[in-house]
Amino acid sequence: MAFDATVDLGRGLLLPNPVGVASGTFGYGFEPLELVGIDHLGAIYSKGTTLNPRAGNSPPRIAETTAGMLNSIGLQNPGVEVVASEYAPIWATWDPPVIVNVAGADIAEYVAVCERLDGVPGVAGLELNISCPNIAHGLDLGTDPGAASACVAAVRQVTSLPLLVKLTPNVTDIGEVARAVETAGADAVTAVNTYLGMKVSLRRLGPVLPGLGTAGLSGPAIKPLALAAVARLRRAVAIPVVGIGGIASTQDALEFLAAGAAAVQIGTANFHSPHISRQVVRGCLEYAAQSGLETWDQVLQRPVRPEPA
Ligand code: SIN
Repeated sequence: MAFDATVDLGRGLLLPNPVGVASGTFGYGFEPLELVGIDHLGAIYSKGTTLNPRAGNSPPRIAETTAGMLNSIGLQNPGVEVVASEYAPIWATWDPPVIVNVAGADIAEYVAVCERLDGVPGVAGLELNISCPNIAHGLDLGTDPGAASACVAAVRQVTSLPLLVKLTPNVTDIGEVARAVETAGADAVTAVNTYLGMKVSLRRLGPVLPGLGTAGLSGPAIKPLALAAVARLRRAVAIPVVGIGGIASTQDALEFLAAGAAAVQIGTANFHSPHISRQVVRGCLEYAAQSGLETWDQVLQRPVRPEPA
């Protein structure tokens, strides 16, 4: 039987392959389209979008760490009206599905943004971002299973779009939050958003990133933690898990699939290697062909071979 590269994230959301680019690392797709192209991608997850435009936090907003990166962007975005009326019509002409990452200050804002995007051609799905550590109260919904559930249930009332929920790892048991959003109507979960971190300037005797002082840690430093979260979620919920956290190679992506992810997102690596997603898609497809897979699920049953040198 020929290999089927597609991934089904539920409610009709079919990705041509499992490898997508993560929210906040690919903008709304327009600049990367010029730089690296998008035709190879399984999905594009947009920058976090709020009801009204946001300028984001004061600079500096990014700092390098050992094997990682801290960001304190603060959800800079043009607001949902621009996304729905100017960006989505262009996405409707693209091959990869575009999933809009939705953020807000409270449940009412999530509902308003999702309601505006419902039924808009070019919007293939929504990724509810209840896990941004860089705005005041940004983690309130994502760290409380009851609040997370209330948010998803309210959004579910106003949209029939596929609904992913992006979870924060800054909790004791990510499985508990995942179960709450699954019961409330989520079609899939994305794990994980960034870990709460900090970089200190000894010159200023204060945080390097002024936003909230703390920031979100991503990159290879968090990969083992993210893999453990994905493996936990695979056991906790029946809906698909989209894995993210330090993926920078084919080997990394396959490890997430083997840990139980149905699809993956490449994030921080896009900044230093803009072409990395094309390499990873190609590498995963080559792996599938060489291993004689029929579907991605079979990665779970087969050992992942080391990436060729
Ligand atoms: C940001 O804009 O601050 C990052 C978004 C996020 O961490 O979800």
